[in-house]
Amino acid sequence: MQIDLNNIKVFIEEDYDKLSKKCAEVIKAQMNSKPDSNIGFATGGTPVGTYKELIRMNAEKEVDFSGITAFNLDEYYPILKSDSQSYDYFMKDNLFNHVNIKKDRLFIPNGEAKDVDLECEEYEKHVMSAGVDLQILGLGLNGHIGFNEPESVFTGKTHHVNLDESTINANARFFNSYEEVPKSALTMGIKTIMMAKKILIMISGENKAEIAEKIFFGDITPFVPASVLQLHPDVTAVLDKEAGSRIMKRI
Ligand code: PGA
Repeated sequence: MQIDLNNIKVFIEEDYDKLSKKCAEVIKAQMNSKPDSNIGFATGGTPVGTYKELIRMNAEKEVDFSGITAFNLDEYYPILKSDSQSYDYFMKDNLFNHVNIKKDRLFIPNGEAKDVDLECEEYEKHVMSAGVDLQILGLGLNGHIGFNEPESVFTGKTHHVNLDESTINANARFFNSYEEVPKSALTMGIKTIMMAKKILIMISGENKAEIAEKIFFGDITPFVPASVLQLHPDVTAVLDKEAGSRIMKRI
């Protein structure tokens, strides 16, 4: 089912599998219409199924990554690239190692950088000069996009951020203990994200239903960072029916 809500094209899919297929179709359409696209990739649990589908599409020659440049949305800080919890590792493990993308076309904020402010400044310049054609986003339980936690300014560029307690708790599921979860990160800012030509946000699971409703029906406010997407001219949101349950009740 497709609806338009506050300027956003919203698709509510039957389940996570269909959500993943729909998101992969959106990315495929971008890649096929512009084979040298710059694509902003996101980590987290939600995009894993989409990336699996893209790997299948690449193996079956439905999509070609050879002209694609990838810019990752965020990375923990500090973290070694070789750490299996780093987003550098995640992206390679879940997508880049399995498709024909060129290794020198992968850009991820450097969690090993000595000078964190310089790293952010250079990453921002690089992203801005290239220009992102399609930015993929997940949604945090607190409404964050990238690691732009509530109260992030809408004018923010790539920066170093202390993570919210709720984000650390949500990420703890990937670690052995709370203590091991990184407490800070590097992230594209809201402005960096909003400069992308197109945005695809994917939202899955019942625990996201309340925040999803706020994004599409609530005020545009830094307290709910993803609400800013209402101001972007080309956003596609794909939800499964658990995440979309409260939206469906209102339409
Ligand atoms: P998730 O994370 O896909 O693991 O739920 C989304 C996010 O925090 O951006």
